Amino acid sequence: MSSQPTIQAPPDAGRLPVTLPILADKKRHREPIVMVTAYDYPSGRAAEAAGVDIVLVGDSAATTVLGHSSTTPVSLEDMLMLTRAVRRAVSTPLLIGDLPFGSYQASDQQAIETAVRMVKEAGCDAVKLEGGNRAAVSRARAIVEAGIPVMGHVGLTPQSATALGGWKAQGRTASAAARIGSEALALQGAGCFSIVFEAIPSEVTQELMQHVEVPVIGIGAGPSTDGQVLVFHDLLGIREGLGPRFVKRYASLLDEMIAGVAAFADDVRQRRYPGPEHVYKIASEEISDLRARLS
Ligand code: KIV
Repeated sequence: MSSQPTIQAPPDAGRLPVTLPILADKKRHREPIVMVTAYDYPSGRAAEAAGVDIVLVGDSAATTVLGHSSTTPVSLEDMLMLTRAVRRAVSTPLLIGDLPFGSYQASDQQAIETAVRMVKEAGCDAVKLEGGNRAAVSRARAIVEAGIPVMGHVGLTPQSATALGGWKAQGRTASAAARIGSEALALQGAGCFSIVFEAIPSEVTQELMQHVEVPVIGIGAGPSTDGQVLVFHDLLGIREGLGPRFVKRYASLLDEMIAGVAAFADDVRQRRYPGPEHVYKIASEEISDLRARLS
């Protein structure tokens, strides 16, 4: 296992790096926490420049940037490569790396080894794992005890979407909602510094929020969480389709990308590109000399 040099982004003038105590303070002062996903240098720079609090290199990379139809195929090597690129872009937000499916389920030892690689080789500040059953709580505790901060994730956990009955809201009966609450408390008890609630009815979230002490970041969990997260490609419209009902679109970048590439293609076909302003010049005597050499 070779450790790669991590190129750290230069500190953003005037802004202090976001730390775990800062996130806890934000919860205490009811100041909303902003989290977005990022998967490469440009998305990381956008998150940094926009002043978000947390950047997650989500395993949603499997679908957003690698073209898979679910999150399970993304590998640890893929996640390390993507996270290194984001690390080079991000200096102020807390940087969290998602542990991909299959990289932590087998044992606590495997979970520690994977989390250590995400920190040592990709420069993460913390890692995130999915689920709140006994095994997931044990993995979270083991990683925390190894000295790496862990964010939990309950409700709709896409790595186990098939077992959960598909991509649909969770906690829609009292017993299912109570189970999500117990999972969140167990993850908190294992030392998780924060927990993602995904696709849970907002009234359920509101009830559970009264019992959770660590910052809760919601995605499709209503307005009562301590913060909100959206997937970069969803909020900026970089993928086809509208996505789940909780997505709010703030731009339609895919449309702009297609229009830009189509305009380039049209310019090339109509011989409008390159124009005189896009070409390099050479002295006329050099061209005469060249012609003589070529004849
Ligand atoms: O992988 C991801 O993008 C996530 C967020 C939706 C929280 O887990």
